[in-house]
Amino acid sequence: MSGMRTEDIKWFHSFELADGTKINGIKPYDVQLQEADAFFSEPLDGKSVLDIGSWDGFFSFEAERRGAARVVATDNFCWSGEGWGSKDGFDLIHTKLQSKVEAFDVDVNDLPASGLGQFDVVLFLGVFYHLKDPYAGLENAAKMCADHLVVETVTALPREKLPAMRLFAPAELGGDPTNFWAPNIPALELMLRTFGFSRIEALASPASPAHPLARKSMLTRSSQETVYRSIIHAWR
Ligand SMILES: C[S@@+](CC[C@H](N)C(=O)[O-])C[C@H]1O[C@@H](n2cnc3c(N)ncnc32)[C@H](O)[C@@H]1O
Repeated sequence: MSGMRTEDIKWFHSFELADGTKINGIKPYDVQLQEADAFFSEPLDGKSVLDIGSWDGFFSFEAERRGAARVVATDNFCWSGEGWGSKDGFDLIHTKLQSKVEAFDVDVNDLPASGLGQFDVVLFLGVFYHLKDPYAGLENAAKMCADHLVVETVTALPREKLPAMRLFAPAELGGDPTNFWAPNIPALELMLRTFGFSRIEALASPASPAHPLARKSMLTRSSQETVYRSIIHAWR
């Protein structure tokens, strides 16, 4: 449990709790709510949920609030690794909500051997583009999934029909040297089919209002060069 005060924590997620606690993290609260509606497009009642790269845990706690029977939050980079984050925010919200979300500090690539088993719903949100080997990362996330995998990621190359990924120079994307790869949608579809998913749906992310999927007719050379965020639902 965290003995930290909210003002002593560097927050990524934002929270508005019933007890009046308001936390303004890097990710805006209204975007998180819109994302949650897009991620949790199917009822969670009775389901087991794994949130890979949970950080402050907004989507883990939201899955619990929406009726999931068991929620497991995992992280490594920002809980105990090289990232600037910590687990203090997760622990503080966990205590405030009297949450039953289970937390495990484990790297995505170590999840299949972790003994946690498979989950009905696996969330792989905002992690893909941070991995040096995102193909292996997504494959390991897929191994944890019995039914429904939700991937949220930076995507690129919207005009390219061949499966392809764009590589960024250190700190080129958002000034963050931990951003490496942005795939296009055909690359995500190919990976997910290869990993055993039979139904795949790609959506524009609410975090990218000018998303090419939402505005196909307006694709220009400059929009080809930009990056945008996408949500991919995949079912076994
Ligand atoms: C942009 S944040 C996304 C947080 C949250 N999932 C969301 O979508 O709002 C990226 C997350 O990926 C995590 N991450 C990066 N590399 C990881 C790895 N190898 N294993 C597990 N988590 C990792 C970071 O620690 C961080 O929590």
